[in-house]
Amino acid sequence: DPAALRRLVDLDKGRIDRRVYWDETIYRMELERIFARTWLFVAHESQVAKPDDFLTTYMGEDGVIVARGQDGRISVFLNSCTHRGNKISLAEVGNRRRFTCNYHGWTFDTQGALVGLPHEDIYKATCPDFDKAALGIHRARVESYKGLVFATFNDEAPGLEQFLGDYRWYLDVLLDNDEGGTEFLPGNIKSRMQCNWKFPAENFAGDSYHAAWTHNSGAMAMLGTGVGKSNQERSYQVNVNGHGWQFGLDMVGNAMVLGEPEIVQYLREREARVAERLGKLRSRMVGAISSANLFPHTSFLPGQNTFRTWHPKGPSAIELHTWVLVNKSAPQSIKDKYMKGVMRTFSPSGTLEMDDGDNWENATQTNQGVVTRAQKLHYGLGMDSAIAHEELKGAVHLRKYNDTNQRAFFRRWLDLMCQEID
Ligand code: FES
Ligand code: FE
Repeated sequence: DPAALRRLVDLDKGRIDRRVYWDETIYRMELERIFARTWLFVAHESQVAKPDDFLTTYMGEDGVIVARGQDGRISVFLNSCTHRGNKISLAEVGNRRRFTCNYHGWTFDTQGALVGLPHEDIYKATCPDFDKAALGIHRARVESYKGLVFATFNDEAPGLEQFLGDYRWYLDVLLDNDEGGTEFLPGNIKSRMQCNWKFPAENFAGDSYHAAWTHNSGAMAMLGTGVGKSNQERSYQVNVNGHGWQFGLDMVGNAMVLGEPEIVQYLREREARVAERLGKLRSRMVGAISSANLFPHTSFLPGQNTFRTWHPKGPSAIELHTWVLVNKSAPQSIKDKYMKGVMRTFSPSGTLEMDDGDNWENATQTNQGVVTRAQKLHYGLGMDSAIAHEELKGAVHLRKYNDTNQRAFFRRWLDLMCQEID
């Protein structure tokens, strides 16, 4: 019932019902109406660089295979055999031309087509409607933007271009500040957290406010100095279609947190070139104090170069996948520093990730209390912060200490949750 959903999320007053963080019915609806309906980031092209490279991941809770064919095209299809549903790949990453199911040996190609099965002659003789061509695996639509591969199971969804809209202008800060493009460094950390997937997503979209408090002691320990409040009159929250980005224009603030001076130097040396490419304003965003979430569940920290997805695993659990994103053309020594710096800050043993995880897990758990659940949460910061800006795209709001992007996240959430589907 859309009216009931709207009562949960009061964006005019900035009040949100705690139910959205624990309710099983709402969670099931999110899988159907959000994760099975929108575009989802599934891989960076560099992860499946060669023909027959593949990896497995999730779209919502549906396991999928992302595979590059001999023709170079990337396909995304369910990691589930059309015979009895077993996984056709138990490996998480690899290179192979055929996927053979472990159960009865049905074999599929890199596009999910059924190409062979044991005792096919018996099928032909005893199964009148047997049609091998119709027994391929259900595929998703696939499109990419500057190295990021997206997929959707919704045939009616508008294209990726429309899904991203003007957010592409911001993504270029990350993906197009160098002519060589980007890549993920080898390796992918997968970890579990006992929290609702929306806590980390909305945190990266718009919770600059927590950084100076939650991460202050971590910053003191690592850098010998706390997290400054940063210049609020020169910081922004922008959002497009529920995708959020918050940033200052301090050029290297995030990069400094990695504790690797060579990275800061690398960024400073490149600043003029980046300005030529993206303009002065965006050149100041490349390594700046900032964070972003691409709706629904893909987050990154420009300058700190962690890139991650929060895969839902029930209302109170996620599987977190993280990578390190770098410019392909960066010297190997700089790539190594990025890897080290990101592991020190945003990995399961990283100082800053542990700070955040505790908060999200505790918030998820306490919101379920039978008395607690009736009390609304406060999302009212920065109600009148919209500004007109000559250069910045999308909805622009002044000051990073602001709940605007979190409200924008929930506006998009509400639109999708209220849509009519069969
Ligand atoms: Fe895959 Fe039977 S379940 S071959
Ligand atoms: Fe944080």
